[in-house]
Amino acid sequence: MSVQTIRIDPWQDQEPGTSGLRKSTRDFMRPGYLEAFLQAVFDEAAPADGDALVVGGDGRFFCREAAETVVRMALANGFSRVIVGQDALISTPAASALIRRRGAKGGVILSASHNPGGPDGDFGVKYNTETGGPAPTTFTAGVFARSKALEGYRILEATAPDLSVIGETRMGDGIVEVIDPITDYADLMETVFDFDAIRSLISQPGFRMAFDAMNAVTGPYATEILERRLGAPAGTVMRGRPLPDFGGGHPDPHPDHTPELTARMFGTDPLDFAAASDGDGDRNMILGPVTIVSPGDSLAILAAHADVVPRYRDGLKGLARSLPTSRAADRVAEALGIEMHQTPTGWKFFTNLLDAGRITLCGEESFGTGSDHVREKDGLWAVLFWLNVLAATGKGVGEVVAGHWSRFGRDYYQRHDYEGLEVEPAQAFMQGLRDMADGAAGRTVAGYAVQSAEDFAYTDPVDGTTVTKQGVTVHLSPDARITWRLSGTGSSGATLRVYLERFEDPAGDLHQTPGQALEAVAEVARVLSDIEARLGRTAPSVIT
Ligand code: G1P
Ligand code: ZN
Repeated sequence: MSVQTIRIDPWQDQEPGTSGLRKSTRDFMRPGYLEAFLQAVFDEAAPADGDALVVGGDGRFFCREAAETVVRMALANGFSRVIVGQDALISTPAASALIRRRGAKGGVILSASHNPGGPDGDFGVKYNTETGGPAPTTFTAGVFARSKALEGYRILEATAPDLSVIGETRMGDGIVEVIDPITDYADLMETVFDFDAIRSLISQPGFRMAFDAMNAVTGPYATEILERRLGAPAGTVMRGRPLPDFGGGHPDPHPDHTPELTARMFGTDPLDFAAASDGDGDRNMILGPVTIVSPGDSLAILAAHADVVPRYRDGLKGLARSLPTSRAADRVAEALGIEMHQTPTGWKFFTNLLDAGRITLCGEESFGTGSDHVREKDGLWAVLFWLNVLAATGKGVGEVVAGHWSRFGRDYYQRHDYEGLEVEPAQAFMQGLRDMADGAAGRTVAGYAVQSAEDFAYTDPVDGTTVTKQGVTVHLSPDARITWRLSGTGSSGATLRVYLERFEDPAGDLHQTPGQALEAVAEVARVLSDIEARLGRTAPSVIT
């Protein structure tokens, strides 16, 4: 079996974004495109003899073909073993766990997360390092630089083994090992949570729940854990079969994309608990009867209740959240007397803090929550954490949330997305915000005084690396905050995200809608950014 070197002209557009390289599926299917990016990744990773690579994806269109290419190229580039999930499926958190448990050099995750899939949808490739976490910015910058100067890629001249059959196959000088991707992950969850307590909650007469897997990767995981191991009735997992086009749906856990689940929770006879995850299984949405738990609140609530979970019983080391995530978790960290970190958007910035033992839990406003059990956010982990809290407290979701607000106050929160912008005007708009930030302190708009404004830069407290231009934030008085940044996960054009939040102390009105509570803050954002004149937009495309 020989190694072929295929000459190519380098691509110039393979810069990884917030979470790996994302492009349209058609872009990825162009001859040599996926291969070129993988070559740049493997050159940067520089595997040595004996190194293993984990490979899997969320089952979207082109995943299996891409996994076969990864297998052939990994073995041609010096990996000795490639560990592949059966049918090329592995959820992102399970891949992270597997890299750690098997001591692999790294992993290639084939997913565009919550972006729609199919030939007209998106595809993505992400590399995780030996910690199990997304590659840091130094690594991704190296990959981009290499990709622009690449002359060719190396690939084994052979067909990859059948990825639907569990077992080991010799290939070239290495081994391809197809594994069951579910069991290890389910076993890990049993070590983290109090499964007995959750089992007795689920078996209580009258307790009803549902999990919407959105025809994405979590279906088989949720069926194993919730139905088989925890005894939830068959049918608890909805849309449990992974499909290449996610059944035509948008695999983003948002009430608009889970119509049946949302209708059940906001109808006349809601279930006690409902949840959903995204394409690759790292996001989570938690619903109670007529309640959507805001992700920023969820992180804070889980942190405040962590002592009911066996893994966290001895206390938390610290917490972290991304810049635009609400400050609800900061209040819990203060009460617990533990470290609190504010990082740029993207899970990769949590990895060093987790590795260094500085934090135990972390999260983002974009429906991402996780802990030091892996180095990715973890959708089903969050679902189990909530079930563990409900089981231990005997309370419903709404009661837990309201109880949290009456103790810590409430951080009203909304994200306004402006989609479909042209790249250049969007970048010019961000530059305009930086200029605005320089002179903003002291201005008063709609009853709010600007106290300070900053263009967020972050220096990693563990390795000292610095990243700049991570979002523009203004701090207001009374206590509120606005952040603007451009999305780094789209496959074309630009999306502006505007994050609004306002603190209401426990004695205030804790039960307004976020829209009402943030009306004036939204007005401040409009005026300070001058969005209508600069981008021609009068209203956001999506409000979350
Ligand atoms: C989005 C989210 C971010 C998350 C990322 C990957 O990135 O905002 O929090 O880490 O997806 O799931 P963005 O498109 O904003 O760059
Ligand atoms: Zn995801």
